[in-house]
Amino acid sequence: MTITYYGHACFLVEIQGKKLLFDPFISGNSLASDVDMNRIEADYILLTHGHMDHVLDAEQIAKKTGALIISNFEIVQWYIQKGLKGHHMNHGGKYTFDFGTVKFVSAIHSSVLPDGTYGGNAGGFVIWNDDCCFYVAGDTALTYDMKLIPQLCPQLTLAILPIGDNFTMGMEEAVMAAEFVECKHIMGCHYNTFPPISIDTAAAVSHFSKANKTLVLPRIGETLTF
Ligand code: NI
Ligand code: MN
Repeated sequence: MTITYYGHACFLVEIQGKKLLFDPFISGNSLASDVDMNRIEADYILLTHGHMDHVLDAEQIAKKTGALIISNFEIVQWYIQKGLKGHHMNHGGKYTFDFGTVKFVSAIHSSVLPDGTYGGNAGGFVIWNDDCCFYVAGDTALTYDMKLIPQLCPQLTLAILPIGDNFTMGMEEAVMAAEFVECKHIMGCHYNTFPPISIDTAAAVSHFSKANKTLVLPRIGETLTF
């Protein structure tokens, strides 16, 4: 799998020749001003919850690319009413798409859409096929439910965890989350975009390495292969 980081909690994963864009928040992120949103291709747009810093550019990119939106029932319904295509899911369910299986898993967070519409409950995704399995936690606190992931899903290749604290778990709890999901390779997100989530990135890397985990923090625009 390859993954391109677009800042905050937005990244593009390529698996089985398909492009999966997560939580697009680019036009509102001054740190991502070098990213040309109009050049992003997506087959699917996966949304963890309804907050602005996760859905801001979803409508525009979905209209341009024709991507299918995958999220919880309420969020997908909101986009279908705007004339877009979507696939509704809810917690605990899984569904197999042409790129692999998606399981919508628990997160502890809130979720309201930008116009005030109820955005259902926030979630995360575990996605797997014959080549890889990865976890996108979304915005969440550390939760004991993460311990179910290694029991219900294949061995994780990569876990993408928020590390910025204040709105989500911080770096210390993200290390515990990595232990709960039994994954060695972690990509951090949801940090440094706004003042309340500014972190010491060297300290974060060190916290993970003390727990024998590898934390990667790609530059915005950088592509990594796992
Ligand atoms: Ni949020
Ligand atoms: Mn957020």
